[in-house]
Amino acid sequence: MASFHFFLLVLVATARVLGADAELSTNFYSCSCPKLLPIVNNGVAKAIQKEARIGASLLRLHFHDCFVNGCDASILLDDTNNFIGEQTAAANNRSARGFNVIDGIKANLEKQCPGVVSCADVLALAARDSVVQLGGPSWEVGLGRRDSTTASRGTANNTIPGPFLSLSGLITNFANQGLSVTDLVALSGAHTIGLAQCKNFRAHIYNDSNIDASYAKFLKSKCPRSGNDDLNEPLDRQTPIHFDNLYFKNLMDKKVLLHSDQQLFNGGSTDNLVKKYATDRAAFFKDFAKGMVKLSNIKPLTGSKGQIRINCGKVN
Ligand code: HEM
Ligand SMILES: *[C@@H]1O[C@H](CO)[C@@H](O)[C@H](O)[C@H]1NC(C)=O
Ligand SMILES: *[C@@H]1O[C@H](CO)[C@@H](O)[C@H](O)[C@H]1NC(C)=O
Ligand SMILES: *[C@@H]1O[C@H](CO)[C@@H](O)[C@H](O)[C@H]1NC(C)=O
Repeated sequence: MASFHFFLLVLVATARVLGADAELSTNFYSCSCPKLLPIVNNGVAKAIQKEARIGASLLRLHFHDCFVNGCDASILLDDTNNFIGEQTAAANNRSARGFNVIDGIKANLEKQCPGVVSCADVLALAARDSVVQLGGPSWEVGLGRRDSTTASRGTANNTIPGPFLSLSGLITNFANQGLSVTDLVALSGAHTIGLAQCKNFRAHIYNDSNIDASYAKFLKSKCPRSGNDDLNEPLDRQTPIHFDNLYFKNLMDKKVLLHSDQQLFNGGSTDNLVKKYATDRAAFFKDFAKGMVKLSNIKPLTGSKGQIRINCGKVN
């Protein structure tokens, strides 16, 4: 009997070590850092109070982390004299923002439960809380990701989608991350918040014909053929700090900033999904939340892989 119990114990222990690799869980820190959720939520609330746009920036930071070797906080590693990280990759340089907010939240966590919560988990929670606080849907964030000890600018250049992609390019890009066409369309709804720079929408307003003429004219008055590269305009021209489904209505009106956005409603296979989300906010919210769970679960480091960074900007 005793040896049978011992056998069971070994079995359970082995299963734990092996299984530690697999699954994230919502209660991962419930004993080790019970105040985690309110600390992140308050940190995000304070930041949004100061500048509403930061919610968009935090959501994008998580996306750009997850598309480069999984959700492992690699994007947070700062460049040094002998280390090049992802912050100067094409899509991030002078564009990715919100690093200070994550650092502030992490500093508060280090006071409450030192060395316990990963930066990758903070990013995943901050993205969710940002969406909720700007009026969007909520979802459960599985936890237990660990932080990378490396980053890759080359991979970031290659895997983060750019604004000049075609529909098939976008579909392939998302498929490479295990994300479906529905995920692509739903997650692109993130462009209901935040801003984009002139250099990223110039080609669409000057060279594409699938844009509303008066909207293009308005944008040309802000974004000249050359110069003003970093001038910002809202991705959703109507409600850029409110998470709603107007982005999809804008697509149907041909009033969006990015070439890549308009690809989703341009006579192709995704038109019907865009129409559905434009009229059915609940359907968009449901699919967005589902897509975010998939995004947040891309290749996490778990178990004994990686580390729990003390300072998100550098390896311990
Ligand atoms: C489908 C392919 C996508 C492309 C080609 C794309 C491209 C871009 C570009 C070019 C910008 C403007 C950056 C700048 O000018 O500084 C931007 C902003 C943004 N993107 Fe995307 N994006 C895509 C998907 C996503 C996804 C899946 C999310 C999140 C789930 C997302 C969230 C955001 C947000 C929130 C902003 C505004 C950020 C801010 O204001 O700081 N994007 N995106
Ligand atoms: C980042 O942007 C700045 C300003 O536009 C530029 O000077 C710098 O060369 C860029 N870095 C990289 C790696 O492209
Ligand atoms: C990635 O993009 C940056 C900025 O455009 C560029 O300087 C760099 O050479 C690219 N490639 C690699 C491998 O970092
Ligand atoms: C528009 O297209 C022309 C001709 O292909 C090209 O030379 C030009 O660089 C493009 N302009 C922009 C802003 O992309």
